Amino acid sequence: MNKILFSLSIVATMIPSAIFSQQANTLKEAYKDDFFIGAALDLSQIYEADKQAADIVKNQFSSIVAENCMKSMFLQPKEGQFFFDDADKFVALGEKYNMFTIGHTLIWHSQLPDWFFVDKNGKDVSVEVLKQRMKSHISTVVTRYKGRVKGWDVVNEAIMENGSYRKSKFYEILGEEFIPLAFKYAQEADPDAELYYNDYNEWHPGKIETVVKMVKNLKSRGIRIDGVGMQAHIDMTSPTLAEYENAIVKYTAAGVKVNITELDLSVLPSPWGTSANISDKVEYNEKMNPYKTGLPKDAEEKWENRYADFFRLFLKHKSKVRRVTLWGVTDAQSWKNDFPVKGRTDYPLFFDRNCNTKPIVEKMIQLAK
Ligand code: G3I
Repeated sequence: MNKILFSLSIVATMIPSAIFSQQANTLKEAYKDDFFIGAALDLSQIYEADKQAADIVKNQFSSIVAENCMKSMFLQPKEGQFFFDDADKFVALGEKYNMFTIGHTLIWHSQLPDWFFVDKNGKDVSVEVLKQRMKSHISTVVTRYKGRVKGWDVVNEAIMENGSYRKSKFYEILGEEFIPLAFKYAQEADPDAELYYNDYNEWHPGKIETVVKMVKNLKSRGIRIDGVGMQAHIDMTSPTLAEYENAIVKYTAAGVKVNITELDLSVLPSPWGTSANISDKVEYNEKMNPYKTGLPKDAEEKWENRYADFFRLFLKHKSKVRRVTLWGVTDAQSWKNDFPVKGRTDYPLFFDRNCNTKPIVEKMIQLAK
């Protein structure tokens, strides 16, 4: 017996430590018993154009979502003319690395092609025409990736912080019913796919109330909804952990899982608190861009600690959390460099501008252990 242990320890010392640590020390390994850990991919990552970024995606993440290429303006730029090259590549990548692949997003008022709501005279389409366009878009896209895309953000950002419905054209023409319709069409196209409602600032009490009501309404009508995607575009002060936790608990009490989606922690000063409404812009000024040449150690430590607080919360509620997805891989890619103030230098993600692994990765791995 001792002889065997002795031989094993000799073999262990012969394994190069780099190989050992690569196997044992990745985010997806560390969190494999807790929840999927994902990232949003841009086109260069989808096409694996940059080897370093491709290796990060392959080694660190167990789930992927497309940052832009599955939005309706890209998938159906003209009525009936679909463009699937990028989305096909994205879904194939997920299969190649055995990832939990997420489709984002079927029905969203933004990044939507101009033709969607108007007839050939430029007038709003009728109720029947809009229903038919939604059904055709959803059925075509979901059917194409049936069984391969495991979960869909069916409807994105339809409810405001005060709990009212966003006055989008979907709402103006179809009323609240556009949400159940979208879920019904998606369910018909792939009965096995998980279906989600995804939104930002979902810790606001008014929003919680309306989203919970909507989830219950779908369920009571036998329409499938599996999860609420809680976008997590957070900053150093907002939201509080208590606010975020309260929302996780409320959504799961309504009978769905929670996806922590679009996670990025901005270290920059915020003009107003968190938001992801891309039309909310603020003018550039130097005071709002304090870390142009690098992030000072003390600021990075505070940033790491806040990330750790959130990951502790996700672990505490791991039975409720299906997936945690970062909104991007590297800081260079992050939309936060241009939002809400254009042209800033932000550091919200786990890999730096040169694809180097930040210390946060090791810290989050240790946390899971
Ligand atoms: O497609 C054009 C391209 O032709 C042009 O050359 C290029 C030049 O800037 O712009 C390209 O469009 C950009 C598009 O992303 C695709 O790359 C837009 O300028 C840019 O504004 C757009 O931003 C995306 C944004 O959604 C649009 O609303 C961000 O990358 C993306 O991270 C962001 O993601 C959203 C989620 O889908 C939903 N929740 C909020 C989140 C942040 O807004």
